[in-house]
Amino acid sequence: MCGIVAYIGKRQAYPILIKGLQRLEYRGYDSAGVALLNGDLHVYKKAGKVSDLQKFAEGQDVEGTIGIGHTRWATHGEPNDRNAHPHVSNSGNFALVHNGIIENYAALKEQLTNSGYTFKSDTDTEVLVNLIEEVKKQEDVSLEDAVRIALNEVVGAYAIVVIDRTNEDSLIVARKGSPLVLGIGDQEFFVASDASPIIEYTKNVVYLDDQEYAVVDRAGKFTIKTLGNIEITPFIQKLQMDLESIEKGGFEHFMLKEIYEQPRVIADAVRGRMSASEGWIKLGGVNEFANRINKAKRFIVTACGTSWHSGLIGEYLIETLARVPVEVEYASEFRYRNPIIHESDIILAISQSGETADTLAAIEVAKERQALVYGICNVIGSSIARVSHAGSYTHAGPEIGVASTKAFSTQVVILTLMALQIAQQKGTISNSYLRQVLYELENLPKKIEKTLELDAQIKVIAEQLKDAQNFLYLGRGYNFPVALEGALKLKEISYIHAEGYPAAEMKHGPIALIDEQMPVVVLATNESAYEKIVSNVQEVKARKGIVIAVVNEGDKQIKSMADYVIEIPQTEEILTPLLTVIPLQLLSYHIAVMRGANVDQPRNLAKSVTVE
Ligand code: F6R
Repeated sequence: MCGIVAYIGKRQAYPILIKGLQRLEYRGYDSAGVALLNGDLHVYKKAGKVSDLQKFAEGQDVEGTIGIGHTRWATHGEPNDRNAHPHVSNSGNFALVHNGIIENYAALKEQLTNSGYTFKSDTDTEVLVNLIEEVKKQEDVSLEDAVRIALNEVVGAYAIVVIDRTNEDSLIVARKGSPLVLGIGDQEFFVASDASPIIEYTKNVVYLDDQEYAVVDRAGKFTIKTLGNIEITPFIQKLQMDLESIEKGGFEHFMLKEIYEQPRVIADAVRGRMSASEGWIKLGGVNEFANRINKAKRFIVTACGTSWHSGLIGEYLIETLARVPVEVEYASEFRYRNPIIHESDIILAISQSGETADTLAAIEVAKERQALVYGICNVIGSSIARVSHAGSYTHAGPEIGVASTKAFSTQVVILTLMALQIAQQKGTISNSYLRQVLYELENLPKKIEKTLELDAQIKVIAEQLKDAQNFLYLGRGYNFPVALEGALKLKEISYIHAEGYPAAEMKHGPIALIDEQMPVVVLATNESAYEKIVSNVQEVKARKGIVIAVVNEGDKQIKSMADYVIEIPQTEEILTPLLTVIPLQLLSYHIAVMRGANVDQPRNLAKSVTVE
């Protein structure tokens, strides 16, 4: 949450900062700001989107070849001009942008207030920039030393960039708990929360590690040190992503583009990891720790939001195929409830961003108790990927729409491969069944393409239902987590209240809500529980609910009862979530667009939740 960007070099900084902030806007979009050095320090900040900042800065002096920028997701203090970053120290000498939370900011603020400092904002960031100023003054040290000493006093998480009004030749960046990438150009440097603002200018990057800082200068020199003041040799990596992957490519929204990318990313997620004709699966992380994984007495999935939903599907998969018990935990609860974790447990930490604070904290708890942590992340080089003992990347490519779509599908694919590989190694499934599923997985991108062809029909359904105040989503077995996911998608982007339920659970409460106003989306593709779902649909219809049924092609019984029917291709039951989720993503998308909501940047949300 919050995106930071900075530039130093020969070019004008402002256009680079603005473009970078637009790319990072998915991380937070309630206010934005820039600070530029050009003889003096010029700071422009505004509540609202980056486009509001641009309008505000029009006609003002935005010259300068060094600058910092920020797009905010509010933690301390409401989103307004005053609380927007960058924040400037009392002397006016230092400006700072920050992503994260300074937990001991209240105590530090009190100390600084007692020393005569005043504060214009309600933020923890303004405390930090003044702390740096105070340390510099009291200890009579360089800005680098002051930043290092100040950060050693700070409890919490941060990625920061600091500039000095009296020195246009360098800037300082540091991180702990929040991501930061340094792009290395030809006598120029780019800094950002992720690589998307950098990719256009250079492919050479260094991902700063926790408790590290860097001093970069205009002459093209940079030094990385730990907060303990020990210089370290930087590891320069080549970025794998390309510019195309972070642009809309003709789609109206990133979310729609990402929904349509699912056939391709699912093929990418399985590439080189399985062969149906040869009957093998090879997830590197599972191979590396095969002994421990195959002997595990229990898997514990920990994740948040959509990733938690894919984890629930993982529970069904691993228990059914590999016959090992699985628990699925919200990371935010798991970390605080003193959970029982054994050394023989495997912790599956699932996260698109790889930066979710709660999931990271849950991993720490698991590692303290010697469990093996297996990360399933999308963002390469992310914190969760780095702190896990083993793992598999989902290879979905950058997901920019705040609502997760292709990340979910690829997580489910990895969990499917994992469950199958463990089951094969343990001998809990037959080779013929394994091949059958693998062939179907190879075919799945085509079936998703076919499901995507239903888009126009789903748009018509959306038109009919867009004014509903509530929605219910029902599913059984593998489709129950999909019902939860469908409800989450709808509520987060269209702001319609929605709930997902196991279909049979409806009669224990939610059935009271059903009347002629209530759309009920029923996932009715299950072979094993088809008759039961038929009964659930009847129960809804008997109370005049509006049934939108997702069924297999050729279905007759449910088709005759439902108000709207979406017919999708049939697949192996364990793979159904990968198809049933598609119409739900499209339905939410169209309803949100029709209601005029900002689909890619829903209110109050941010793409990576790096605060507790
Ligand atoms: C919903 C959504 C969120 C995330 C959750 C976890 O569409 O995107 O619920 O799934 O914040 O994020 P990651 O997967 O990055 O850990």
